[in-house]
Amino acid sequence: MGKQPTKKNKGNVAGLFLMVLAAVITIIVAFPVTDGVRKYIKDNIRYIAGTYSATDKGFGGNVRATVKVGDNGIEKISFKGDSETPDIGKAAVEKLNEQMKANVDTEFDSVSGATITSSGLRHALKKALLKAQGKEIKGERKPQSADIVVIGAGGAGMSAAIEAAQNGATNVVILEKMPITGGNTVRATGGLNASETKYQKRDGIEDSNELFYEDTMKGGKNLNDPELVKTLVENSAQAVDWVNSIGGDLSVVGQFGGASVKRIHRPSDTSAVGPMLVKTFNAKLDKLGIPVLLETRATRIIADKDGRITGVEAEDENGIFVIGTKAVVLATGGFSANSQMVAEYAPQLKGFITTNHVGATGDGIEMALELGAGLKDIEQIQTHPTVNPDTATMYTEGVRGNGAILVNDDGKRFVNELDTRDVVSAAIMAQPKGESWLVFDTAVRESLSAIEKYINEGIIVEADSIKELAQKTGINEANLVATMEKYAQMQAAGQDSEFGRKSMEVPLSKPPYFAGLAKPAVHHTMGGVKINKETQVLKEDGSVIPGFFAAGEVTGGVHGANRLGGNAVTDIVVFGRIAGDSANKYVLDNGGNTVRTITAQTEDANFKAKDIKTDLKDGSYKGSAKGFGGDIEVTFTVKKGIVSDLEISGPKETAEIGAKAVNKIKKGMQKSGELKVDNVSGASVTSKGVAEAIKNAKAQ
Ligand code: FAD
Ligand code: SIN
Repeated sequence: MGKQPTKKNKGNVAGLFLMVLAAVITIIVAFPVTDGVRKYIKDNIRYIAGTYSATDKGFGGNVRATVKVGDNGIEKISFKGDSETPDIGKAAVEKLNEQMKANVDTEFDSVSGATITSSGLRHALKKALLKAQGKEIKGERKPQSADIVVIGAGGAGMSAAIEAAQNGATNVVILEKMPITGGNTVRATGGLNASETKYQKRDGIEDSNELFYEDTMKGGKNLNDPELVKTLVENSAQAVDWVNSIGGDLSVVGQFGGASVKRIHRPSDTSAVGPMLVKTFNAKLDKLGIPVLLETRATRIIADKDGRITGVEAEDENGIFVIGTKAVVLATGGFSANSQMVAEYAPQLKGFITTNHVGATGDGIEMALELGAGLKDIEQIQTHPTVNPDTATMYTEGVRGNGAILVNDDGKRFVNELDTRDVVSAAIMAQPKGESWLVFDTAVRESLSAIEKYINEGIIVEADSIKELAQKTGINEANLVATMEKYAQMQAAGQDSEFGRKSMEVPLSKPPYFAGLAKPAVHHTMGGVKINKETQVLKEDGSVIPGFFAAGEVTGGVHGANRLGGNAVTDIVVFGRIAGDSANKYVLDNGGNTVRTITAQTEDANFKAKDIKTDLKDGSYKGSAKGFGGDIEVTFTVKKGIVSDLEISGPKETAEIGAKAVNKIKKGMQKSGELKVDNVSGASVTSKGVAEAIKNAKAQ
């Protein structure tokens, strides 16, 4: 311990909160307000003049940050770290104090070799700044707890939570910083790649896990981690079945770039895959009673001195709080929407627009680095070739897969449209103005309902003839007519003699015709946190961080130097599920499951908890008894006749019956205000076990 990340980008990857606060504070505008207190406001954040201190965990103990806000903004920042080691931690505190004297700045790099101290100071400073905004810091009063905290309610996080609960976890909570679930997953359009599926067999498509593996490694230029790719392909058919088993639909198989055969699976109405997945996951989370705390940003993952995960610090509209936990699944997605970070790792992409949602800012990378996680292929960032430059709307590769071609302003084709994304993107960028036109006909439109969205958005030009299409778009008319005629001939002959395209679905001859302007945009960050095939997060040296798991776009290694379209959704379902399973096993190996104590937004909105009253004396009570699967343990505290901290833990009860019953019993007690167990129908052994455990606790 004590050795922490010294990544070249450390300062630039600094968590969102500090970046925002730094920006706020450097351009502070002072103005008097009517209550007589002088405040400072920028981007609707107000700072109240005064001196504010806060502490956080350093290496040896607590470290402290003090902020003085005066009439002209932040006047002074100072740090203390009396419990830190003299040569490392204390020296770092001194160094940062000197730095702040020279230049007051809320954002600072970690001092090399003392990143835990530096991180503690950064978090203490953040808390002090929140106090300066008059915000509450809840975690210092009452921590909540969960066995598994999943950070990020995108596809990977939701898959992890569902799988964990299906395998028996009773106390899983998801934190999501946005007001809705779904992240980039809800934007996914083309589909999910899988080999050896029942739908491929139904359609007579000859595919194998070996071929899928080869395509993925070739697409990724063999930079991929072979173990992870093997895990991806071997679990891909199961991923399709699992999505179906929880109410989803992936029954249509199509062609995508870089795939030797038709392998991409999408819903039967040919609509976008993401909304279907997110709807399915949301419904399942609800059914399993897994709380999703929206607008709750995880800001730090906390570990003890031995490096074991012990909690997550998070921030919601009221301030900071801490959730104690045994295991964390990091599923925060990628960083394509963090243009600064993209430019840092891939300077050639500076200034590019992105297809991603605004929350794809790389918070997870920063949090993982603070714990000493290693990174894999972080500089590998993918552009999607066909994105409307005005609206940043991505035209799914499915449009090309189902038959569309690409032409330049001169009306000529210039690439095999179904080559891998890096090749197609580079070819478009090599055209005059770096742009191209995606051209298709009514047969393609009818094959893919995702196209209706682009038409409704007004970004597609429609014409009754090819000539008219050329006139409306400004594409060279004679060349476009010739290109379309030649393409129809090649399609009929079944051979693309110009660019070697293998799948030419239709002759593109059914009017009306359509064209959309298309340029590459930043789409996917292929690198990220280093994991193994069990999704355990690894340090640079390959050692495991106990209790720390990660899945989805926040990780690196699955896609190598170039992701095949359709492989990210496979990644989030396959590795999301593995992460849920691994985290659950870890919890079972480290004391077992407890019952949820997190306030759930998904719980019955009409439910009101009453105080549970008792005539027991003040003190802590603990009792156990046999349940259905194993021992059930009950603990609670009594203070002035009121029961608090009631935990009912039955790690071996079945998820669907026993664990649910335990939740029901607890809810029943909170509703009735009595420490009394109502029998839950269908789970009488569990109910009796809880009643007996309470009796034993009371007898203590
Ligand atoms: P996300 O789905 O992005 O979820 C991460 C979540 O974490 C987000 O909700 C985010 O708000 C939250 N979060 C981040 N930081 C924090 C924090 N500090 N605290 C709390 N919450 C946090 N791939 C395919 O394979 N097939 C496709 O068809 C496809 N189409 C795509 C179309 C578009 C337009 C885009 C942008 C991507 C597409 N992809 C596709 C890629 C794929 O959708 C993503 O790689 C994948 O969905 C990422 O899933 P995830 O769960 O890892 O992250
Ligand atoms: C698309 O539908 O083209 C996007 C697919 C992907 O990113 O995998």
